[in-house]
Amino acid sequence: MKKIDNCKIIIFGASGDLTKRKLIPALFDLYCQGELPKEFSILGVSRTEYSDEEFRKHVDEGVKKYSERKENDPKLLEKFIKNIYYLAIDTAKADDYAKVKDKMSEISKESQKDNYIYYLSTPPKLYSFIAESLQKQGMTEQNDQTGWRRMIIEKPFGYDLDSAKKLNQELFNFLKESQIYRIDHYLGKETVQNIMVFRFANSIFEPLWNQKYIERIEITSSESIGVEDRGGYYDGSGALRDMIQNHMLQILGMITMEPPSVFEANAIRNETLKVFQSLRQMNKEDVDKMVIRGQYTESKVKGEKLKGYREEKDVAAESKTETFVALKLFIDNWRWGGTPIYIRSGKRLPTRVTEVVITFKNTPHNLFKNSAVNQLIMRIQPHEGLLLKFGMKNPGAGFDVKAESMDFHYDEIKEYVPTAYERLLLDCMMGDQTLYTRHDAVEACWTFVQPIIDAWKENPEIKVYGYPAGTWGPMEADNLIEGEDLTWHYPCKNLTNDDSYCEL
Ligand code: BG6
Repeated sequence: MKKIDNCKIIIFGASGDLTKRKLIPALFDLYCQGELPKEFSILGVSRTEYSDEEFRKHVDEGVKKYSERKENDPKLLEKFIKNIYYLAIDTAKADDYAKVKDKMSEISKESQKDNYIYYLSTPPKLYSFIAESLQKQGMTEQNDQTGWRRMIIEKPFGYDLDSAKKLNQELFNFLKESQIYRIDHYLGKETVQNIMVFRFANSIFEPLWNQKYIERIEITSSESIGVEDRGGYYDGSGALRDMIQNHMLQILGMITMEPPSVFEANAIRNETLKVFQSLRQMNKEDVDKMVIRGQYTESKVKGEKLKGYREEKDVAAESKTETFVALKLFIDNWRWGGTPIYIRSGKRLPTRVTEVVITFKNTPHNLFKNSAVNQLIMRIQPHEGLLLKFGMKNPGAGFDVKAESMDFHYDEIKEYVPTAYERLLLDCMMGDQTLYTRHDAVEACWTFVQPIIDAWKENPEIKVYGYPAGTWGPMEADNLIEGEDLTWHYPCKNLTNDDSYCEL
């Protein structure tokens, strides 16, 4: 792609954690690889009073701790930091946005034409207000003289279907869809993008990629951490809104979409949208059977006491917010009609892992006494790679079938794998929206999730199962899996060469 020669990034909510841990380190990593435009600068905007120098010191610590390139020549960091500026304003006061305009003219005094990215890392209630305030300053208008104007917004995009629609409509008063970049950092993960390449650059799996040959699909995203210091946000959100409505459904979209006719943003996003629109809507009555929610309780892991969710900071003492969700769903289309799909995500599980497990159907007729399961496991993180399981003859007398596997690990290629934020920030600079979520996809995902939200709200009888911190969630989640004695694929048991990975 053609490199641009000018970009100014204005981060709203810049004193927050995201800027220090992810955004500035990712921009520095791009800088080290020579990927940033020749002329670039970053303006941090938030309420906290910092001078340019103080803010630079604050983000310098973040780069030293979180950058993938922190081992680089320190002089590079010094040079990079000089392009960072700061402005304290009251982001909830429209008049203060005039100061943003003034500061930007000060920063870009030399250039004739500036391209701007506005990065909104603020509470979502400010999104449309910021867009409106920038528009009032004439800062959203883009033409050949001004350069382009793009806005990246962080999830959550709405709190439910109605608020998501409202947010989309409000933003459209000030910006066009082509200017809005809704970031879902899972789409920036190299291994999530690899799903498309794996499927559409190879001819061996695609003919099997349908209800005729696939028994079931599982997507798991487990985290070993609890809510940490985000209790205030999380208690009003929960795992369904925090992980399932966005990240998990986006992975599902990649796994189940039809091949696009061209590799282009809208063609790809049209195909994932069709998947979201084909998700079978649950009746409120079915929610109890199809969705299991849980909340972690106090426990002891390797001698360490782990707090229960309700004891976490900023969490209500009687909270019913789910920290675990497992659900079963169907995609009502020709490719997937009847194939059960299972998704689960939770906090305080035994390990951090995200994986997709495709289980193929058995052979139509079994010639041998025993058989092996054919499974393809796509490990999104960590130990990124692919594992294919099949049956082989057990050497010696007879025809015993033995389970074997082929295992590919990304780290074997020894190439630098960019972080999600690096990839996504660069895509935004290039104007590539492929890995950003379109307004209609956001709404389609909420449409699927809404009956679950409603059922939980209207029917307090639906249980929130407790599970001890450090375990795989409530046992009831196993009952979702169709078929006798079937359970989820448990990553720890199957990982090779790394016994310390986790214990079960
Ligand atoms: C965020 C959620 O979107 O994703 C967090 O808000 C979650 O609760 C995080 O911890 C997980 O991201 P990753 O990249 O660590 O898997």
